[in-house]
This record gives sequence, structure tokens and C-alpha cells, in this order.
Amino acid sequence: MSLLKIENLQVSHGPLQALWDVSLDIAAGEKVGLLGANGAGKSTTLGAVVGYYPVQSGCITFDREDETRSEVSQRLSRGMALVPEGRRLFTDMSVRENLEMGAYMSGPRRKLAESLEHVFSLFPILNEKQRQAAGTLSGGQQQMVAIGRALMSRPRLLLLDEPFIGVAPLIIRDVMDALAKIAAEGITIVLVEQNIHRALEFVDRAYVIENGRTILEGTRQQLLDDASFGAKMLGLD
Ligand SMILES: Nc1ncnc2c1ncn2[C@@H]1O[C@H](COP(=O)(O)OP(=O)(O)O)[C@@H](O)[C@H]1O
Ligand SMILES: [Mg+2]
Repeated sequence: MSLLKIENLQVSHGPLQALWDVSLDIAAGEKVGLLGANGAGKSTTLGAVVGYYPVQSGCITFDREDETRSEVSQRLSRGMALVPEGRRLFTDMSVRENLEMGAYMSGPRRKLAESLEHVFSLFPILNEKQRQAAGTLSGGQQQMVAIGRALMSRPRLLLLDEPFIGVAPLIIRDVMDALAKIAAEGITIVLVEQNIHRALEFVDRAYVIENGRTILEGTRQQLLDDASFGAKMLGLD
């Protein structure tokens, strides 16, 4: 049963067409990678899924409902959440305030306290630093805030755009462990990642995007066994 289905998506940024033919079919509970070179269209795909970019043609279905042209706020309230490229935190605001921003639509205080507890259980360091300005944290800790903020709306689908950029190697392990826990709770994960080996270590399955088109799809093993995958991905890491 698919949770997110994208069919033949076309998206442009002004005069520049970024996506020509992107199709994805992701089942509830899956961990799926979105791989490809710089400029291939990975971020545009995630942005189109949550509604930041209008779609020229194709369609987006989320949990059986057509979301191709719906408002961003509707998609978020139905259970999508995006951890954007570059984190986009409010660096002068506290860690806790940043997290609370993620829950702005989800209503009662009680739920907010529960969601905060959930985030702090995944990232205990954020509990300790909750009163500090987000901008004073390390890159890895800021990434934890960005992921935590996305989790505050209790999403069913978590879209992550290159979450390991600017994160120290030792901390990448912690963040990956937290993502594994999030997945184990049943949250579906789509991970955009340039480091192919790191991505394939985490996901069940991945799609490869090239020049705005999905050109390959397979399980970790199928992709590693595919000669064209090797050739396309060589040197990307
Ligand atoms: N806001 C934007 N305005 C204009 N062009 C953009 C914008 N965002 C992305 N692009 C262009 O769209 C194409 C796909 O970019 P992007 O989706 O960011 O790729 P990726 O995330 O795979 O690196 C690239 O040619 C990029 O230069
Ligand atoms: Mg990108």
C-alpha cells in the first residue's frame, strides 16, 4: 500500500525546467533513498512533494488523496514533514523555541509537551541545551534541532534533504541511529543523500535521479549489483 506516490512529475523554477519525469512509489514504513548528482533535482522533488513548488504536470498522491495542488499547510497537517537542505533554523531563537515552531499547527499544549519529550528522548543533548540559542550549537546538534522540529508535528512521512552536511563524522553515527529509531516507530523516511555508501547503509531501497528524471530504482543489493549504477555513481561521493 503506497503512502506517497509521485507520477511523471514536471516542475520548473521560472524558465528552467528542473524535473522532467520523476516517479516514486513509497510504501508506509519504508526507508527510501533519493540519490543523484548535484543539480539532478532531488531538492526540487522534495519541495514539490510538500508543495513549495507548483507542479506543471504529473501527480502527487499521499495516503490515497490527491495532493498535487493542495496547500503546503494541508500537506503538513496530513502528515508530511520536511527537514530542509541547510537546516533553516532560527539561529537567534532558543532550541526549544525552534522545536515549538514545528508544532505550530498541532494544537493542544499536552500534545506539545509529549512531542517535546519524544524529541528529547531521541536527542538528549537538546534537552540539556533547550534554552540556548540554536545558532550556538554545533552543526550536528543544529541538524538534530532541524529533525526534531520536523518531528514535532508527529509526521507519518519524514523527508530529509542531505541531513549530514556540516555534521562531524562521529555525530553522523548518532543522527543515523536516531533516524533508525524514528523509522522503527513506523515513520516512513525519504533520505536525500550525496554519499551513496552512507545512504545505502540506511535505506531499504533507493531511486536515482539524473537530469530531472528517475532513471533507476532498486534495493540496496540490486543497485550495488547494477553495473550502470556503479558507473553513474562513481565519483559522486
Ligand atoms: N530556486 C531555484 N531557482 C532557480 N533554479 C533552481 C532553484 N532551485 C533549484 N534550481 C535548479 O534546478 C535544478 C535542480 O536543482 P535541485 O533540485 O536543487 O538539485 P539537487 O537537490 O539534486 O542538487 C538545478 O539546475 C538547479 O540549479
Ligand atoms: Mg539539493
